[in-house]
Amino acid sequence: MNKVTRISKAVFPVAGLGTRFLPATKAQPKEMLPIVDRPLIQYAVEEAYAAGIRHMIFVTGRNKRAIEDHFDTAYELETELEASHKHELLSLVQTLSPEDMVCSYVRQPRSLGLGHAVLCAEHLVGQSPFAVLLADDLMTGTAEGPGVLTQMVTAFAQLGTSLLAVQEVPQDQVRRYGIVAGDSVTPHLIKVRQMVEKPSPENAPSRMGVAGRYILTPGVFDLIRNQPRGAGGEIQLTDGIAGLIATEGVHALLYEGKRFDCGSKEGFLEATVEFALKHPEVGEHFRTYLRGLPIPD
Ligand code: UTP
Repeated sequence: MNKVTRISKAVFPVAGLGTRFLPATKAQPKEMLPIVDRPLIQYAVEEAYAAGIRHMIFVTGRNKRAIEDHFDTAYELETELEASHKHELLSLVQTLSPEDMVCSYVRQPRSLGLGHAVLCAEHLVGQSPFAVLLADDLMTGTAEGPGVLTQMVTAFAQLGTSLLAVQEVPQDQVRRYGIVAGDSVTPHLIKVRQMVEKPSPENAPSRMGVAGRYILTPGVFDLIRNQPRGAGGEIQLTDGIAGLIATEGVHALLYEGKRFDCGSKEGFLEATVEFALKHPEVGEHFRTYLRGLPIPD
């Protein structure tokens, strides 16, 4: 039987507590924080849709109802917009969930870690390879090029192994990332030999940091299930991936594009400024505003 190399399902783990953004995330999901006018989760879902994925699986937790509502029909709002002839806004709201897109939701009862969150989606994923997108990593492809997940789906179709999105990170920032090391297959592709979670700069095997985009084979579920608790008592996805490196092989794709770590305040602000500057409605005004700001040294 041929190996399945098409990715049709994406898992969005959105059950984390978002403590770095308290108090903003006390009663609302971090993934609903907007960059200009779209919530983070919408950017991630649009990236998956553009990569050809139609089944979106959200691993949610307490206080995450807003995410389900965001992708659901909003009858009252739509009726109001229609009655007041606000057709552009109406279409904006309606096209957010295209008709051929299916959304499923599963709860992670406790924040036991990213690996555990992915495991919660197992029964919805089944036995096919799938994508995982962390919505707080906001990714942009190059200006005219494909999005980051599209680049990965294309590479996966050739490789058939699990695939991680990586970027080169500054030496003093390696402790914020999962870091991979391995052998270069092409200038953009690495056959991974080792992955370590948040190493100190002295112990980091390379500067290749993993961003929040993965394509995983279903073999990862047993590996996550059978591993002991990892760093911080959490069930880590990294430990499951380490198991895949040993059994099935894993590649890392040096993607083209940019990542904004919107789980941190700095990354969130950088994304807001860059997206605002490019925004068709407010970009010009915002540019003029920024230029006129007296920014002290
Ligand atoms: P993070 O550690 O960046 O998110 O997890 P967090 O825990 O929500 O944020 P902080 O660190 O407290 O500020 C990466 C992703 O994994 C999800 C998060 O929602 C986020 O998208 N996650 C994490 C889960 O779904 N479940 C978990 O148990 C842990």
